[in-house]
Amino acid sequence: MRNIFKRLTANEYRSKGDTGNPEKHPLIGAGDFQAGREKTPAVEVKAVSHCYGAGENRRQVLFDNHLTIHPGEVVTMTGPSGSGKTTLLTLIGTLRSLQEGSITVYGRATKGLSAAEAVKIRRKIGFIFQTHNLFDSLTAYENVKLATTLADWSGREVHGAVVDILAAVGLAERCSYKPGKLSVGQRQRVAIARALINRPKLILADEPTAALDKDSGGLIVEILREMANAENCAVLIVTHDNRVLQVADRIVHLVDGQISSMPNMDRCLLQAVVE
Ligand SMILES: Nc1ncnc2c1ncn2[C@@H]1O[C@H](COP(=O)(O)OP(=O)(O)OP(=O)(O)O)[C@@H](O)[C@H]1O
Ligand SMILES: [Mg+2]
Repeated sequence: MRNIFKRLTANEYRSKGDTGNPEKHPLIGAGDFQAGREKTPAVEVKAVSHCYGAGENRRQVLFDNHLTIHPGEVVTMTGPSGSGKTTLLTLIGTLRSLQEGSITVYGRATKGLSAAEAVKIRRKIGFIFQTHNLFDSLTAYENVKLATTLADWSGREVHGAVVDILAAVGLAERCSYKPGKLSVGQRQRVAIARALINRPKLILADEPTAALDKDSGGLIVEILREMANAENCAVLIVTHDNRVLQVADRIVHLVDGQISSMPNMDRCLLQAVVE
């Protein structure tokens, strides 16, 4: 397997200066590191409940959820349709306002954030959602490059990094293609490249392999696992895909708006639960 993130860390990313140096990462304080692992959880969800609608139409969809994810951990979340997985993911990603309970991302509380503070946290998160939201008028290369404007890149580094990340998701030959000329799976891979280009410290992925064939789905799973290992970033993936479940450190199950965490259960058992 191509070890893309190790390669990028050694080359294009070196001049970004934050490799292995916690002080350079704005969301992580130097004191949080211990032997290369942060003590502060990447995500801490406590007593989170959520309702949609108002008045008579108000309906509670999340009930008293607790979840902790550490840097370097790959956690998958499964559960029936409508159980609240996307709602919880968007709350963690600060894409939805938190109503009840608390969520921290690398120690930062996400409740009552100003728009500017929320943007600052979101810049450290790589989002991969079911709908890819690519710009139709931009090429694959330009779509990924656009994301680099959110981070501190110099022009020269950007070109190599964008080309490399597109190659890593198997799209080296498609850099100049616009979304309309790409398959659904290829578009999803562009979206994944875009989510990873800024080396997020947290990746939130909602069914990232659902639109992909076996080979490209497997590639994405490997990349996410490698990203967690090489970059010590935390990954939360909503999925029913067995390939993803196999690389997960932990699987949590969300049923009727409530997580039943099974932290120390053997993976075979977990898989049996999901199946
Ligand atoms: N914007 C919204 N307004 C009102 N209700 C919503 C909204 N978004 C989701 N819901 C409801 O909240 C519940 C949880 O939805 P959510 O999308 O989080 O589920 P999910 O587990 O991600 O489902 P799926 O596996 O189908 O994606 C569902 O009953 C859904 O109908
Ligand atoms: Mg969903």
